[in-house]
Amino acid sequence: MKRDFLKLNDLSRDEFEALFEKSAEVKDKRVRNIPHQPLKGKSLGMIFEKHSTRTRISFEVGMFELGGHGLLLDSRQMQLGRGESIEDSAQVLSRYLHGIMIRTYEFEKVETLARHATIPVINGLTDLNHPVQVLCDLFTIREKRGKVDGIKVAYVGDGNNVAYSWAMATLIFDIQLSVACPGMYQLKKEDLPETSARIELLEDPYRAVKDADVIYTDVWVSMGQEESEAKIERLKPYQINQNLVNAAGKEVLVMHCLPAHRGLEITADVLDGPCSIVFDQAENRLHVQKALMEKLLT
Ligand code: CP
Ligand code: NVA
Repeated sequence: MKRDFLKLNDLSRDEFEALFEKSAEVKDKRVRNIPHQPLKGKSLGMIFEKHSTRTRISFEVGMFELGGHGLLLDSRQMQLGRGESIEDSAQVLSRYLHGIMIRTYEFEKVETLARHATIPVINGLTDLNHPVQVLCDLFTIREKRGKVDGIKVAYVGDGNNVAYSWAMATLIFDIQLSVACPGMYQLKKEDLPETSARIELLEDPYRAVKDADVIYTDVWVSMGQEESEAKIERLKPYQINQNLVNAAGKEVLVMHCLPAHRGLEITADVLDGPCSIVFDQAENRLHVQKALMEKLLT
């Protein structure tokens, strides 16, 4: 039976633990220059309908390092971009490839692709969620703090796809999630998982970060959203700056999935300062996704 990774809770708690172990192993092997090539002869098609730096490069390099091949599939150059159905594309790609990674707009499109493909499908970001990002972020927190259970994460900014995947993380780990957004940009209660007792939706960023182990933010305008001055104005009080970091009241890790806009959602001194782990976080996309691809494609 093929397995997909479309949303964070497509993996069980035990599978998360095993993936974290595997991620640490592949990371260590890479540091020590020990080849690890379980995907020799295998190909991953990577469909991008939105921009990407980290996701594109980490999946492509990851496949290469695992002994396989990652093919960039720009949907505008495929018949998909001229109206071939996602259902037919799924069946055809399944005859050539061993896995598909897709970044697109509608989550439903990824579900349709997965339903009609006979090979594993990985969600590389949709308007709704960004599960590979948060999977990798959980590993980074475990690396820095030794555990994930029992931590408090304060997500501050726009209640977007990354925030939503953080909400899903509370289904798997004993995480207290405080999400501080201006009312109209807050996550919708009806979209939240049944663990919502672990999720606090707030307007006050200072309340959200109190006692937090991790302060997390993301861009204020996501791909596919309209640039809006009014939105930026409403989000200004949600900037991660040194005052907000100090308000955590303890040693806190600052995370951002990147790309960052210094001076908007985060100040340069915080992003480049001692609490920030954003570049370790970006690096771990490679190691953890290698572990994920090994699990799904072998
Ligand atoms: N964080 C992230 O997914 O980055 P890219 O958009 O560059 O892939
Ligand atoms: N929320 C952002 C994440 C980018 C990695 C977006 O969807 O553009």
